[in-house]
Amino acid sequence: MSGGGKKYKIALIPGDGIGPEVTREAVRVLNAVGGSFGRVFEYTELPAGGAAIDAAGEPLPAETLETARAADGVLLGAVGGWRWDGLPGDKRPEAGLLGLRAGLGLFANLRPAKLIPALASACPLKATGDIDILVARELTGGIYFGEKGRDGDSAYDVERYSRGEVRRIAGVAFGLAAGRRGRVTSVDKANVLESSRLWRETVIEAARDYPGVELEHMYVDNASMQLIRDPSRFDVLLTSNMFGDILSDEAAQITGSIGLLPSASLRADGFGLYEPVHGSAPDIAGKNIANPCAAILSAGMMLRYSFGLTREADALEIAVYAALEDGIRTADIAAPGGPAVTTEEMGEAIANKITALR
Ligand code: IPM
Ligand code: MG
Repeated sequence: MSGGGKKYKIALIPGDGIGPEVTREAVRVLNAVGGSFGRVFEYTELPAGGAAIDAAGEPLPAETLETARAADGVLLGAVGGWRWDGLPGDKRPEAGLLGLRAGLGLFANLRPAKLIPALASACPLKATGDIDILVARELTGGIYFGEKGRDGDSAYDVERYSRGEVRRIAGVAFGLAAGRRGRVTSVDKANVLESSRLWRETVIEAARDYPGVELEHMYVDNASMQLIRDPSRFDVLLTSNMFGDILSDEAAQITGSIGLLPSASLRADGFGLYEPVHGSAPDIAGKNIANPCAAILSAGMMLRYSFGLTREADALEIAVYAALEDGIRTADIAAPGGPAVTTEEMGEAIANKITALR
């Protein structure tokens, strides 16, 4: 109950689709954590994505970026939706998210994919042992941000990586692996792509600083296959922006519900943006049925990585798992035909667990 006196300034970007519903529950749970541990969280709500297009005519208003920059952490729901699908690339909601990542310098995207015991039956694979994978995805380079354009009847997107860019995400991956099971699988396509050959060389160099961590290289096509064959063999997956986008969805699905998975996008100084791995799910938006766990666990990652509030982050995670152990389920993870709670009820159940823990 020690009040540190510090106020943690959180830039809250609900975004589109189910974003507002799930971030509301994340705020509810953060406030329960604050109440139990004597922490004060202060929120500034900011528009980005489709919501910002509607309100201000652009996916990332300058003020959103500026205010996010001045915060202690950024919590985002999701961006995107059919309504804005016809817009040109740089005017789409996704451009707002990419602009935040680049504008805030968030080069390291961490996406844990863990099979929770209470939900083991949700894994679509045959029994495979403990699944606890951390995808460390490079987030501000590669084909996402390379030169792109149209040229007559053709179009192009350039995959370009510098040694420095590879080095820094590799450092993050090795550092994290050292605190986990000590194994990094670097994913590339070095049998075909020059950028992947530079990636591999640089990762080998970076590995020299981490003699305790075992490094293996795997082609991306093989990695997608091995993930299905035996996901428990992986510890940290180190990937480029594009490969990480694809493999993190695959790893997420292996755990049974993308509705449970959080992510952190970090800068070297610990500043970060936190968001669920899932998207805006416009088909279920506004129905109070979305699973808020990924948003809530994302808030937990913010407590841990940006605020250094380890006990608080542990309590939040324990509360989520305890609610799941009790059998409380939103529709996405409910047993077929079994009972399901609403988004709000799930958030309340988790918030109550936190209050009860103290
Ligand atoms: C993700 C998403 C984004 C990405 C989109 C929404 C731009 O798929 O965070 O994985 O491709 O990075
Ligand atoms: Mg993706």
